[in-house]
Amino acid sequence: MLAPDPTTSLAMNLDQRFTLPFVHRIRFTRHVASLQNSALADIFADDATASSRRAVLVIDRGLHEAAPSLAQDLVKYAQTHAAQVPVPNEVLVVDGGERAKCDMRTVDAVLALIERCKICRKSTVFVAGGGAVIDAVGFATTIAHRGVRLVRLPSTTLAQDDGAMGVKNGINAFGKKNFTGAFAVPWAVLCDLELLRTLPISAFRSGFSEAVKIALLKDPSFFHAIEASAAQIAEHDLEAASPVIQRSAALHVQHIALGGDPFELHEARPLDFGHWAAHRLEALSEYTISHGDAVALGLLIDCRYSVLQGWLSQADFTRIEGVLAALRLPLSHPLLKDHAAMLVGLEQFREHLGGTLTITMLRAIGVGHEVHAIDARLLQNAIAQTAG
Ligand SMILES: NC(=O)c1ccc[n+]([C@@H]2O[C@H](COP(=O)([O-])OP(=O)(O)OC[C@H]3O[C@@H](n4cnc5c(N)ncnc54)[C@H](O)[C@@H]3O)[C@@H](O)[C@H]2O)c1
Ligand SMILES: [Zn+2]
Repeated sequence: MLAPDPTTSLAMNLDQRFTLPFVHRIRFTRHVASLQNSALADIFADDATASSRRAVLVIDRGLHEAAPSLAQDLVKYAQTHAAQVPVPNEVLVVDGGERAKCDMRTVDAVLALIERCKICRKSTVFVAGGGAVIDAVGFATTIAHRGVRLVRLPSTTLAQDDGAMGVKNGINAFGKKNFTGAFAVPWAVLCDLELLRTLPISAFRSGFSEAVKIALLKDPSFFHAIEASAAQIAEHDLEAASPVIQRSAALHVQHIALGGDPFELHEARPLDFGHWAAHRLEALSEYTISHGDAVALGLLIDCRYSVLQGWLSQADFTRIEGVLAALRLPLSHPLLKDHAAMLVGLEQFREHLGGTLTITMLRAIGVGHEVHAIDARLLQNAIAQTAG
């Protein structure tokens, strides 16, 4: 008989599984700061003590300049509904656009704000702005005190139909998109469709590439609906755009919450269809190409590759290209002439996901499939066709 091993006799292995009940509160409304609108007050209904806590408001400079009274209107709203809503005692204006997440400046400013205003985990940081500001501010709120409450007020089409629906927060580093970041579920997301009126037309249009993406993956009838209203959407028609934004948001949230992998532990990441090329193109352009425009180009590359592989029909491809054209999204870009530089994006994408390379391609409108190997010659061909 063997003597007990002194190195293991006191050992214990404990694999304790647990689950957490997250609530992702998402509301679409109009005129969120109107004193008669209860949407903002209602998001605190689950916490009667919220109004006794502190709050701050961070606003995207582009939004602030386009809607100069919004910040004060939101503060006034909170003061009027102070029985339910925590009142911001400081407003911080931060630079908007991708520069908000190209270094630590926004994150550091928000961390300093949180420290200065004594924001605790039960206090609230409101953030109003585009997806880039929301990503950076969300990262700061995720790491301050290991997580303070975040209420997002997305003000771009892309942030309302995709970006602000997610549970990802982060900034770019080392020339790579979203290198530094963390997963966290916000307290609430309040989308005010009226905020989209002041968006420059190119920014308004660019958000719809994410709606096309999710329709291609999940819902052929939604793709058909986008096709039907694309020309009106391209003209900044809010009535045509609203149902598309809301359907896209709902499909994104359903995938995140019910798809079985909210924190992306698996290798497959279907919501990143078209994104390996998009992220590479954004970085290669030094972020002069917007995320939405880069996604349109990334979708075209992967759809063309799917045609070249014989998975997707030419007829389906023609419809996809047609809808992107009707939305007045870019269909080509000269930076794509550098195939070798683009292909580096595949390995960066694999590294970001971890594990085996997994890219979503398309079999038909509404039918994605995962592949783990890429034919470099066909992909170069697809990139070359999209270079114009
Ligand atoms: N976290 C996620 O899950 C997720 C998902 C998708 C995209 N994103 C990120 O979102 C970012 C792109 O966000 P975006 O497309 O919203 O653009 P953006 O945040 O870069 O904003 C574009 C411009 O619009 C201005 N702006 C914002 N709202 C305005 C308004 N109402 N009126 C006038 N100007 C306004 C901004 O100041 C900025 O100059 C990218 O960094 C992308 O990686 C994140
Ligand atoms: Zn995206």
